Amino acid sequence: MKDLGYLHYSLQQQLLSEMESIREENCRVLPLLLLSVSLLLLCSTAIDTVTPSQPIKDGQTLVSAGGKFALGFFSPNNSSNRYAGIWYNNLPMHKIIWVANRANPLNNSLGVLKINRDGNLVISDGRGRAVWSTNASISDKNNTSAEIMESGNIFLREGSPNNGRIAWQSFDHPSNSILPAMKLTTDPKTKERKQLSSWKSDSDPSIGDFCVGIDTPTIPQIVIWNGSVPYWRSGPWNTRTFVGIPAMVSMYLRGLQLIRDDQGSVELFALVDDAIWMAALDSSGKLQEFIWDEEKKDWVITWLAPKDECEVYGTCGAFGSCSMLGQPICRCLRGFQPKSAEEWSKGNWSGGCVRRSQLQCRNSSTEGGEGDRFLKLEKMKLPDSPDWMRSSDVKECEGECLKNCSCVAYAYDSEIGCMFWRGDLKDIQEFSSGGMDLYIRLAESELSKFLLLFFDGLHAV
Ligand SMILES: *[C@@H]1O[C@H](CO)[C@@H](O)[C@H](O)[C@H]1NC(C)=O
Ligand SMILES: *[C@@H]1O[C@H](CO)[C@@H](O)[C@H](O)[C@H]1NC(C)=O
Ligand SMILES: *[C@@H]1O[C@H](CO)[C@@H](O)[C@H](O)[C@H]1NC(C)=O
Ligand SMILES: *[C@@H]1O[C@H](CO)[C@@H](O)[C@H](O)[C@H]1NC(C)=O
Ligand SMILES: *[C@@H]1O[C@H](CO)[C@@H](O)[C@H](O)[C@H]1NC(C)=O
Ligand SMILES: *[C@@H]1O[C@H](CO)[C@@H](O)[C@H](O)[C@H]1NC(C)=O
Ligand SMILES: *[C@@H]1O[C@H](CO)[C@@H](O)[C@H](O)[C@H]1NC(C)=O
Ligand SMILES: *[C@@H]1O[C@H](CO)[C@@H](O)[C@H](O)[C@H]1NC(C)=O
Ligand SMILES: *[C@@H]1O[C@H](CO)[C@@H](O)[C@H](O)[C@H]1NC(C)=O
Ligand SMILES: *[C@@H]1O[C@H](CO)[C@@H](O)[C@H](O)[C@H]1NC(C)=O
Repeated sequence: MKDLGYLHYSLQQQLLSEMESIREENCRVLPLLLLSVSLLLLCSTAIDTVTPSQPIKDGQTLVSAGGKFALGFFSPNNSSNRYAGIWYNNLPMHKIIWVANRANPLNNSLGVLKINRDGNLVISDGRGRAVWSTNASISDKNNTSAEIMESGNIFLREGSPNNGRIAWQSFDHPSNSILPAMKLTTDPKTKERKQLSSWKSDSDPSIGDFCVGIDTPTIPQIVIWNGSVPYWRSGPWNTRTFVGIPAMVSMYLRGLQLIRDDQGSVELFALVDDAIWMAALDSSGKLQEFIWDEEKKDWVITWLAPKDECEVYGTCGAFGSCSMLGQPICRCLRGFQPKSAEEWSKGNWSGGCVRRSQLQCRNSSTEGGEGDRFLKLEKMKLPDSPDWMRSSDVKECEGECLKNCSCVAYAYDSEIGCMFWRGDLKDIQEFSSGGMDLYIRLAESELSKFLLLFFDGLHAV
């Protein structure tokens, strides 16, 4: 959709790349300034670069210039397989944030991370066979080097180790974790996604069932997929927050930004200050945000999704609404009833709900008789797959929706504009705070019933 004027390539982009370069220059500048001081020791004992003459063996590590990240071989918990990966160097609880040979583990400690004859960074086994390669196309094959950066990125450079062309970088091939300054992207035209993919299990980093990335139907949102089926979604981005994550307006996730770059790709990244921050998709499909707590000396989970059954995509079926305060958690939207009363009463909500009274599809003030009206539902997680149109206010949005009988609901956000829905309304939730107003189309007769039932059913959605 060309018309997403509210999603401008912005200054933030510039800020981000500046932050990135500052981060990466930091340790080069510092040691120079403090050459005579003991910092020299720290930087000279650990190496941060693999060169053709300087491979690293299992048991050795590369450490980024400022000491923040390490690259080396590890075994996951409860596994004897060996993988090359990156972790936070100085923290006692190791979190593996990137794995190279996810699908091709070594079964002994004879692995070597080295620059191959073709110039690529490879992992070779005891017999010198490459089990993994960066696979980049390289022209100056005799002169490449791989460096672990202070951002947690690996650069494979051609030519000068300090400023040669970057032929490959690990941030372009994420595993299950995102770090500050790393981007997840989606090209709306090709649907090509740079995304996180879960480990198969805690002891197997090969690609599991779940992935998370940016979905760009009309208005971008974050989606966790289980295979090809949505498992959780953030709701649309409104230039400040994802409207389906009420917690975002409070303290956490505050650094998360979504912008459109100059190529038209939508990018998600975290603008985080000095905090040691990361987010990871675990093997059960949960996306967790962590901050390192220096006092507790431990990672603290500051946010996760899906955090309960209601957050799981489509728990209550079409036209059903989920509330963790409800008993049961699923209810049909007002004016709707369970498609199968029997299944519904057994707690099987997948069939969803159907409309009780057919829509009139006419304008009662011009055509007389009963028409359709809209019922306002508050604090809602908006349904999935909205359409979008430019609109100056909520009244105009309502008028446009009423004009077309296939429009069954609308919502208005001052940044996004007018969202409206056709077909089934899916993945609706009622929050206890936050959320948005959703207006659903009902036959006028249903609305009068609603007024009669007002006192017994106010909270009943
Ligand atoms: C291994 O398990 C411990 C305890 O559950 C956990 O803290 C640690 O991060 C795990 N290590 C890896 C490499 O997954
Ligand atoms: C290793 O596996 C055992 C048995 O499956 C399990 O009880 C234990 O928690 C696992 N250890 C870690 C660190 O994950
Ligand atoms: C390790 O893997 C190689 C092939 O990748 C295989 O030939 C060898 O038998 C394995 N060794 C053990 C101890 O499993
Ligand atoms: C590198 O390319 C080869 C051949 O095209 C492919 O089999 C292999 O999976 C690639 N490796 C990686 C890590 O992409
Ligand atoms: C690269 O190195 C190989 C072996 O050392 C040599 O034969 C070849 O000529 C070199 N190529 C270039 C372009 O320098
Ligand atoms: C690699 O390239 C850089 C920059 O072009 C040059 O300074 C350096 O001497 C080269 N090294 C080798 C081993 O060819
Ligand atoms: C993910 O999908 C698989 C296959 O459809 C299913 O068996 C599994 O229960 C799903 N996992 C979750 C957490 O929904
Ligand atoms: C739940 O209900 C649907 C129809 O609404 C049915 O197809 C499905 O088999 C039911 N699932 C279970 C577990 O009973
Ligand atoms: C209904 O018709 C009246 C008279 O034409 C018009 O003023 C009003 O805007 C219409 N309502 C809607 C929602 O289209
Ligand atoms: C109403 O919406 C449908 C579905 O998008 C569309 O095909 C139809 O042309 C619209 N009708 C009017 C009067 O705008």
